[in-house]
Amino acid sequence: MIFDILTIFPSMFSSPLEEGMVAKARERGLIRVRLHNIRDYAEDKHHMTDDRPFGGGEGMVMKPEPIVAALRSIQADGPAPRTILLTPQGRLFSQEIARRLSEIPRLVLICGRYEGVDERVAQHFTDDQLSIGDYVLTGGELAALVVVDAVARLIPGVLGNEGSALEDSFSRPVLEHPHFTRPRDFEGMSVPPVLLCGNHESIRRWRRGQALLRTSERRPDLFAGLELSREDRELFEESKK
Ligand SMILES: C[S@@+](CC[C@H](N)C(=O)[O-])C[C@H]1O[C@@H](n2cnc3c(N)ncnc32)[C@H](O)[C@@H]1O
Repeated sequence: MIFDILTIFPSMFSSPLEEGMVAKARERGLIRVRLHNIRDYAEDKHHMTDDRPFGGGEGMVMKPEPIVAALRSIQADGPAPRTILLTPQGRLFSQEIARRLSEIPRLVLICGRYEGVDERVAQHFTDDQLSIGDYVLTGGELAALVVVDAVARLIPGVLGNEGSALEDSFSRPVLEHPHFTRPRDFEGMSVPPVLLCGNHESIRRWRRGQALLRTSERRPDLFAGLELSREDRELFEESKK
């Protein structure tokens, strides 16, 4: 999968893309991340990418011409990709959106700065607008990295163990059960004995109960939407004891 990212700060992407699973996925050719500096597409002699807002007010607005020139240049390079603007006013990014995006071959992400991008870009040159949460960042670069990371790990072959992405919180509408690793005892805190018993069915039941308990405590909104089986109700009650 190819990610084309439009930004005025391409160097912000270096370190996050050079570590961990995303770096490995790039090395193995499972994903490609191409950074496009919007400034390179500004035709005036100062390479301006922003200007004062019509109607007055604080801050600057990203000009449409360089962004659209960058988009056209990318589109000349292959079939029309899906173009997403990162904005706090967009649809809330979720695991389900990440899953759907992981199935397409190419994704363009536009990172805003200042007061955001000229509304005509949003209206006429994007397919979707995504927000990573109800807070305001200084720019779309961190949001784009969140999208790249969440989407990339769902592409077949990126994670060593494909099953682990399926077990993740939000892949199913319950939060994931707690995890423990060695040592068995850490500063007087021990691992729940059931995880050491070697009985896979007991472990499965304990994990399901814990996942339900966690969801009810931390995300009552998700819990309220769950259709619990008889076994689920039993495990949930047990986990509360
Ligand atoms: C300071 S913000 C602009 C906020 C804008 N004035 C508003 O009130 O909606 C600058 C840029 O950061 C990015 N950004 C900020 N918060 C974001 C969020 N929660 N999700 C995605 N992108 C965000 C967007 O690309 C945005 O254009």
